[in-house]
Amino acid sequence: MKKLIIANWKMQRGYRESLSLAKELVKKLPKKTPNGAREIVLCPDYLSLSAVGDILKKTTLKLGAQDSAPADKGAYTGEVSPAELKKLGVKYVILGHSERRRHLREESLLINAKIKAALARKLIPVLCVGENLSQKEGGLAKKFLNEELRQALKGVKIKTAADLVIAYEPLWAIGTGQPIIPLEAEIINRFLTERAAMILSKKVRVLYGGSVDATNAGEFLKQKHVAGLLVGGASLRAAEFSKIN
Ligand code: PGA
Repeated sequence: MKKLIIANWKMQRGYRESLSLAKELVKKLPKKTPNGAREIVLCPDYLSLSAVGDILKKTTLKLGAQDSAPADKGAYTGEVSPAELKKLGVKYVILGHSERRRHLREESLLINAKIKAALARKLIPVLCVGENLSQKEGGLAKKFLNEELRQALKGVKIKTAADLVIAYEPLWAIGTGQPIIPLEAEIINRFLTERAAMILSKKVRVLYGGSVDATNAGEFLKQKHVAGLLVGGASLRAAEFSKIN
């Protein structure tokens, strides 16, 4: 399967800046990625999603959202419907990102409901999981990750291995300039691949995210169980992000 490279622009760019960044990336990234070996996804903020989607039409780049609601329609002030995202051409949706868990108090039960609602609309959830520094240092990373996975995927059913993606994002590596060592990512990604396979009965893709840039991306992508990358800061610079691919 193609390696998956997802750009998470977070709330780092406004509407106009997002459009220029998307246009720049369309110019910089090869029309057809090398040997068709990569699938590249841009996740702008909600305001820019539709207009960035228009820019990506007729290109090989795909559109992703940074979150979606746990239901299609109803009294959910401030939320965005997975059904509407699907109509807009969104293919992937990041769910359970640690920044949402931390700043917005998102918990597993809600993330679980969001995953189910996204799958019902044939969006591909990118479920983020990751341990914090004290869990890592206390040797509790795998135990914690297993629990995060178990809760988020409770009762989740998928038809094929391509229907859901997991992103391993150790909290201490996000936006710090200190990524995990690629070999360590391989160990954890393998663990997550196996655990998810037990829960879902499918071998879904597991990405790595956290301080990925053009200098270290290659080493991560060489790892057998690193099916791709979730890139934050480095995805905001067109010249750098185009090198990651
Ligand atoms: P970073 O963010 O690449 O800036 O560390 C990754 C993420 O939060 O998805």
